[in-house]
Amino acid sequence: MEAGLYMHPAGNDAYLASCNRAGKTAPGPTERAFGIASRRPVRRMLELKSAVLDIAADVMEFRDMGAGGHAARTRKYLELLIQTMRAERVYYAEVVSWNLDLLLASSRLHDIGKIAVSDAVLNKPDKLTREEFEKMKTHVPIGVAIIERIEKSTGGNAFLNHAKYITATHHEKWDGTGYPYMLQKREIPLEGRLMAIADVYDALTSRRPYKEPIPTGEAEEIIVQGEGTHFDPALVEVFRLVSAQFADIVDDELTARDDDDRRILTG
Ligand SMILES: [Fe+2]
Ligand SMILES: [Fe+2]
Repeated sequence: MEAGLYMHPAGNDAYLASCNRAGKTAPGPTERAFGIASRRPVRRMLELKSAVLDIAADVMEFRDMGAGGHAARTRKYLELLIQTMRAERVYYAEVVSWNLDLLLASSRLHDIGKIAVSDAVLNKPDKLTREEFEKMKTHVPIGVAIIERIEKSTGGNAFLNHAKYITATHHEKWDGTGYPYMLQKREIPLEGRLMAIADVYDALTSRRPYKEPIPTGEAEEIIVQGEGTHFDPALVEVFRLVSAQFADIVDDELTARDDDDRRILTG
C-alpha cells in the first residue's frame, strides 16, 4: 500500500463491505484514498439496477428489427406532452405529482414483454395474421409479469409503478376497444393514455419490417382523427400544441441517419 493511504483496522475491503451492508458511506479518508466510496452504496445500487433495466430494454430493441430508437423517441414525445400539460394545466394535479425523470426512464420498459415474442412474429415482413397478432398482444401481460418480478425482488417504488402502468395500458383505447384489459376513458391510467399517443405516432413515422414510414403531416392527422375513440380528447388537444415539435424530432432523426449513411459510404 502507498504511503498516506487510509487503512482501516479491519482492512479496507472488510470495512467497505460492512458499510455497504449497512447502507452507509465510508468516511472521508477512505474516499480520498480509493475514490470508490464517494457515493452512497445505496445510490450506486440503484444506478446499477437502472443500468440493468436499460440493457434489458436495449436487448429487446436489438431483437425487434423495426424498433431501433423507438424507446428513445417515445421518451422524447412523452417529455414534450408532459411539459406542455404542466404549462397548460391539463390533468395538472396528477402531472405535477410525478417525478418526470423517473417516469421517462420507466417508459423505456413499456415493450419489454416483446422479449418473449418469437422472431417469426416480431420481425414478420408482412401484416400479422389474427393468430400472430394474438401472440404479439401477449407482450403486454408478459411485460407486466417481468416488472412484477422485479417489484417482488426489489420492493415497490415510483419507478416501477410508472413502468407497470405504462406497460400494462399503452395499448388500451379511450373507447374501450384496446387490449388487453379493454379499459375505458379515465379507467386507463394517465401514463398509458399518454404513451398511446407517443407509441402510435412513432409507429406511424418509423420504418417497420412490414411498412415504410408515413409523412409527419399524415401521422398528425391520424392522431387527431383518433380523438375520443383511440385517444383521450384532452391529450389530443395537448398533442396539437406540440405536433410541430414531434415532426422536428422525426426530421432530426432522419438527418442523423443520413449523416450516418454518408459516413459509411465515404468512410
Ligand atoms: Fe407495445
Ligand atoms: Fe411501443
